[in-house]
Formats: sequence, C-alpha cells, structure tokens
Amino acid sequence: MSNIEPTATVRTAISNETQPNTTHQEGELNKSAVREVYRRLAPLYDATFGILVSRYRGHVRPLVQSTDAHDVLEVGVGTGMSLHHYPKGTRVTGLDMCPEMLGKAQSRVDKGLDAEVELHLGDGERLDFPDHSFDLVVMMFVVSVTPDPVALLDEVARVLRPGGRVLIINHFAGVTGIGWAERLLVPLADRIGFRSRLPISTIISHHRFVPETVKPLWPIGFFNLITLQPRK
Ligand SMILES: C[S@@+](CC[C@H](N)C(=O)[O-])C[C@H]1O[C@@H](n2cnc3c(N)ncnc32)[C@H](O)[C@@H]1O
Repeated sequence: MSNIEPTATVRTAISNETQPNTTHQEGELNKSAVREVYRRLAPLYDATFGILVSRYRGHVRPLVQSTDAHDVLEVGVGTGMSLHHYPKGTRVTGLDMCPEMLGKAQSRVDKGLDAEVELHLGDGERLDFPDHSFDLVVMMFVVSVTPDPVALLDEVARVLRPGGRVLIINHFAGVTGIGWAERLLVPLADRIGFRSRLPISTIISHHRFVPETVKPLWPIGFFNLITLQPRK
C-alpha cells in the first residue's frame, strides 16, 4: 500500500488544519472533521450508506464506455465500492483523504479487478497530478463532503484533458418534501461529514465547466447525476 502514505501536500494540508479557523460558519466542514468522521465510519461504511447507494455506482461503466475514457481519476473513492464497475482497459487512480477508507479499497484491489487501479492518499482540493492527466473524473457522494467544492472543481478542471468529462452523483439542497430534514442537519455538518444544503448551482454554474447532463435519480431525485464538460 505504498501509494497511500500521506504525500507532502497532504501533510502540509493536515498541519494547516490545526490552525484555529476564526471564519468557520455553521454548516461548513473542515478537513480534519471529515477525516475523523470517515475514520470512524470506515469499518461500517460498506454495510450502511455504502450498500444503500450501490445501484447508483452502476452509472460509471456506460459513461466510461460511451466516452472511451482510458485514464480515470475517482476523487473520494472511499472503500472502493465502485471499482468493479470500471471495465478492462481502464486505468483508474482512486484518491481519498481518509487512510482507513483507502485501506478497505486496497483490499478490493488486492483481490483483483478488471481495471488497472492505483490508490493514492491525498486531497482532491490540492491534486498532486500534472495538468491534463485524465479523460474522466468521477466523484460520487463527495462534493457535499469536501469542505470547499469550488476548489475541488478548480483542481478537477486543471487535471482534466480537453474533451474530457466529469461524472458527479450527489445530493443537493431542495429535494421536495425533505427541506425540513436538510435544514435540521445543517448544524451537524462537521459531526456527520456531510453538508445537507449544497446548492446544485455550485456545481453546474462553475466557470470552468458546461453542464452536459443534469438528471434527478430514481426514486425521488434525492440524488442527481451530473456530467460536465470543460468550457472551451
Ligand atoms: C460518502 S463517501 C463516498 C465514497 C465513495 N465515493 C462511494 O461511492 O462510496 C465520501 C468520501 O470522500 C472522501 N473525501 C471527501 N473530501 C475529500 C477530498 N477533498 N479529497 C479526497 N477525498 C475526500 C472521504 O474521505 C470519503 O471517503
């Protein structure tokens, strides 16, 4: 598991997080809180949230095939529950900032997969890859977990090749009938590692991308599937 040692970037990021954050607002996340939530959740993840959202990860394979993507970056790969969806011939870089989640993903890689997979411990908001490295970037259930989704998309835009795609599956604010629950969870963001009221406009209006698909998913549109193309 040599690739999942903390990189210099991550070590710097971790030490910066120890500085007091005087501008922290209710409902915002910080990286050490997110890492702590997923450190505790890692042993239970697959049997809880992980399995509940299994069906949605099936969207990966048709997109890889229809776009002929070869080099794929999955940010927030977690325990690697998506990895068996990547077809043979795909080279997948799975990145996560929580070593315990990544340890579970490594067990999946060790058991053997169709795609060639490398795992990296790192921060999606400060990617350690050169510009234009990937044909496709996948982020499932991650943009409302990362503290700064705009910074994450800035980095994704940098490492994506011209003509590439981004696939996002996520919950966004404003699902009919559950606004009260979304509001209830706002103050708990740091404790549950999830921002319940992220506006979809944060993603689809990002200046480096043009939205290609925005589709509420079965059954109630609690999750949306979004594909983005880099703006020319
Ligand atoms: C809800 S889990 C989703 C895991 C996986 N995508 C899945 O489908 O099960 C969110 C994951 O994103 C990771 N994460 C959140 N922000 C991140 C960031 N900025 N860089 C890398 N990983 C991040 C967390 O550590 C966690 O493993």
